[in-house]
Amino acid sequence: MSSPRKLKLNVLRYDPRKEGDEPRMVTYELDEAPSMTIFIALNEIRRKQDSSLKFDFVCRAGICGSCGMVINGRPDLACRTLTSQFEDGEITLLPLPAFELIGDLSVDTGKFMRAMSERVESWIHDEEAERRELTVLEEPMDPDTADRIYELDRCIECGCCISACGTARMRPAFLGAAGFMRVARFEADPRDKRTAEGWYDLLGDDDGIFGCMSLMGCEDHCPKDLPHQNRIAYMRRKLVQSR
Ligand code: SF4
Ligand code: SF4
Ligand code: FES
Repeated sequence: MSSPRKLKLNVLRYDPRKEGDEPRMVTYELDEAPSMTIFIALNEIRRKQDSSLKFDFVCRAGICGSCGMVINGRPDLACRTLTSQFEDGEITLLPLPAFELIGDLSVDTGKFMRAMSERVESWIHDEEAERRELTVLEEPMDPDTADRIYELDRCIECGCCISACGTARMRPAFLGAAGFMRVARFEADPRDKRTAEGWYDLLGDDDGIFGCMSLMGCEDHCPKDLPHQNRIAYMRRKLVQSR
């Protein structure tokens, strides 16, 4: 049996809360295992070489959105990225930019996503429903509409689209593609009674949809393949027509 390939992982190490600590790259070497993901490799390093290495994960299945990081220059999920796809076995890992760094590869996407949710008022707006008696039966939704909403509601808040976005990097108040996708989800929902004018008030400026430069880093790097290009273009047209 041939011996396993050696992997070389160059990892940014930095603890912003530790006085005097400086960002630095640390290289770890380990044997590659069959079907190894970046997440498994990092876990191996933490278990056998350096228990202080910080990175996030929960589901290990591309569902929770915790393990986003920059992998050889591209924002992606560590748990869904196989080490075998890197031909020379050398992999450089950096934390996602545009989010507050907790330490090493761990960033706080939660604060950003919570602010985004509040900003786009991420709930069904229907004044009539608020007055309706609780005993009134829910209205059925036609399956095609439910499918359309489900498609747009698959964002796992991993932050890859925000880290891949030039505008988000330059303009900290920019809502970003995850926010536009959240808007698309509610805009497609017939129970939400917000009008184009209402959406304009939330998104109609340079920190919203008109600040987007349409270079589509979000579409290229979204691990859930959400239709960013299509939805951003649609929403921008809708807002322009509302004036
Ligand atoms: S298309 Fe817009 S939202 Fe997407 S990465 Fe580019 S500037 Fe950001
Ligand atoms: S839109 Fe895609 S890339 Fe952006 S946070 Fe959601 S799943 Fe991640
Ligand atoms: S660990 Fe949950 S998406 Fe990677």
